[in-house]
Amino acid sequence: MDPFQYVYVIRNSKQLEFHEFANKMASKTFDYPALSKGKFPELKENLHRIYQYLQGKPLDIISDHMMKNLQDIFEWKCSQATDWETEKMYKFCCSVMFEASFVTLYGRVPAADGHKVISEIRDKFIKFDASFPYLAANIPIELLGATKKVRKELIHHFLLQNMTKWLGGSKVVQARQDIFEKYELLGDYDKAAHHFAFLWASVGNTIPATFWAMYYLLRHPEALAAVRDEIDHLLQSTSQKRGPTYNIHLTREQLDNLVYLESALNESLRMCSSSMNIRISQEDFVLKLEGNQEVVLRKGDWIALYPQILHMDPEVYEDPKEYKFDRYIENGKKKTTFYKAGRKLKYFLMPFGSGISMCPGRFLAMNEMKMFLFILLSHFDVELAENKAVRLDNSRMGLGILLPDVDIAFRYKLRS
Ligand code: HEM
Repeated sequence: MDPFQYVYVIRNSKQLEFHEFANKMASKTFDYPALSKGKFPELKENLHRIYQYLQGKPLDIISDHMMKNLQDIFEWKCSQATDWETEKMYKFCCSVMFEASFVTLYGRVPAADGHKVISEIRDKFIKFDASFPYLAANIPIELLGATKKVRKELIHHFLLQNMTKWLGGSKVVQARQDIFEKYELLGDYDKAAHHFAFLWASVGNTIPATFWAMYYLLRHPEALAAVRDEIDHLLQSTSQKRGPTYNIHLTREQLDNLVYLESALNESLRMCSSSMNIRISQEDFVLKLEGNQEVVLRKGDWIALYPQILHMDPEVYEDPKEYKFDRYIENGKKKTTFYKAGRKLKYFLMPFGSGISMCPGRFLAMNEMKMFLFILLSHFDVELAENKAVRLDNSRMGLGILLPDVDIAFRYKLRS
């Protein structure tokens, strides 16, 4: 609970491990064999190594593809909106982000009904995702209605004979495929289940996080105006025009410099993220904490950090329940210094976890959400079409980004 103690847990990554726990939970949830060292030597390490494809230059490439795919989808879905169109916001974010992420990571489905194929996968994904908190809580899948059948169908989409038909997928997915091929003991279904798990990781949190970012912006007109102003200014200064061709290009530096957009996004992440960082003690030992405090741990004991407490701490964030879009800006620049009881915090915002269990897709996730909002706000006038309160649904507390308890209607129209 005390953020000043986080560092002592995070840096003890040898004695306080997380893979064993994550591996057990993921293999059960996504139906692949546990990554045991005996059966699959180095598989875990090999899979971790290729997270490099989500950073640096490969990140720029994958982000460029995502930007293009997002624009294609907006063009296909929304370019007729010369008058107000009304849709449900969560459904909209889900439909756009799922398809754009799918095409970017796994490739385009070349059939004439490619959009339809992806939307069928998405609908099954939504059904599976609704059972995710129960699976994570170790409820047997047999007790969860159609979940087992839906999961099997989803996994079947990722069999090699289907994946090889998809065009222009990402390097990271290709590299995962290459690694799986080296393990004879991994069956075709097991490999497909691993691909499905990666899909879940890449959209399961990004979709609700995109929803909250959009929802809070529409709820706060002053925030919307400031972010839109920043976006319009960038378009103008780079001589790019929004318009029917949807051909905007953003470099990494330009994305990084959108400080108002980033702050608004961070603020919504602060409010809606609820991931717990779990570590399991690998041996009996004494964990040294700040101020000569000690905790005696036995092998197998659990430690959990729960950053949502930090995110909602009024000593760190004044009026923590209020959305303040510019909380992460100081003198026009990114603000990275936050204090508690007069002391500077090393950790102040942790939607992506920490240390050894930190999300490898975090840079891509931030880019994706920025790009979604960039295209939406540059091309469309957007407003809420209903005046009702949307609250956090706490049923997946501890597991990542919380979903909204209800969906809400919004309308959009092409900007003149
Ligand atoms: C807003 C969006 C996202 C959030 C909040 C998020 C959050 C997290 C968190 C908290 C973890 C650690 C879980 C744990 O401690 O057990 C994690 C792991 C992971 N995330 Fe993300 N994530 C997001 C988007 C993405 C994206 C876009 C990708 C990939 C393209 C991705 C790929 C992964 C993977 C592969 C892992 C497991 C890492 C491992 O094997 O150790 N995530 N994510």
